[in-house]
Amino acid sequence: MVEFTLPKNSKIRTGKTWPKPEGATRLKTFHIYRWNPDDGENPRVDTYFVDLATCGPMVLDALIKIKTEIDPTLTFRRSCREGICGSCSMNIGGQNRLACIHGIDEEKGDVKIYPLPHLDVVKDLVPDLTHFYAQHASIKPWLITESPTPEKEWKQSIEDRKKLDGLYECVMCASCSTSCPSYWWNPDRYLGPATLLHAYRWIIDSRDEATGERLDDLEDPFKVYRCHTILNCTQTCPKGLNPAKAIAEIKKLHVERTL
Ligand code: SF4
Ligand code: FES
Repeated sequence: MVEFTLPKNSKIRTGKTWPKPEGATRLKTFHIYRWNPDDGENPRVDTYFVDLATCGPMVLDALIKIKTEIDPTLTFRRSCREGICGSCSMNIGGQNRLACIHGIDEEKGDVKIYPLPHLDVVKDLVPDLTHFYAQHASIKPWLITESPTPEKEWKQSIEDRKKLDGLYECVMCASCSTSCPSYWWNPDRYLGPATLLHAYRWIIDSRDEATGERLDDLEDPFKVYRCHTILNCTQTCPKGLNPAKAIAEIKKLHVERTL
């Protein structure tokens, strides 16, 4: 897995070192990226000390403790605290992860936390996902049908339903797309692993009746074919999904329909 380090000429400056909590028995050091668009300053990395004896086990627990007890200006997203909403994705120790399901003890030594790479930053650890969501919307992530709507429900066999396993669980955290060098270089035209995983999820849904149009739309030198099977996406996915396989399946379907 590729790890991210800052270039030598980085303008990120060393920030404030906050005081150690009094009476702490199990101190852990956190270096956290800070950037406030309103103060006109370059980004900085602040250092905080957390007493693990009075903190929950996950990195998100430490962030919440820092915000509650040390520095209320620290800004990050979170909601569910159990790996379901996808909102707490960030770069921890050089890899994109969900802070709420990543244990502090999985980080040996100091914990370094940055926003997801190669996205504009709104503030501190909050990335701008506007473009990411627009790309997701572009593949029409809903059931498209022409047949008359059934009275009760669109039925699906157990076997066909199973084909969606490993796809529907995606929480749209963007960890995969933002770990992908192809997505870094062509985020405007390459859809990226998360959106393509969703595209495949609808292509293989037995109830969907727009499979041909969906495949037509993706048959483009950039939308799918900027994927060069680097596999960072699959290695980083905190839900254990395999976006690289989904992309390969789309390519396979493109070939199969020409035979
Ligand atoms: S495939 Fe995994 S890493 Fe990518 S958006 Fe979905 S849950 Fe996140
Ligand atoms: S807070 Fe919901 S996935 Fe982490």
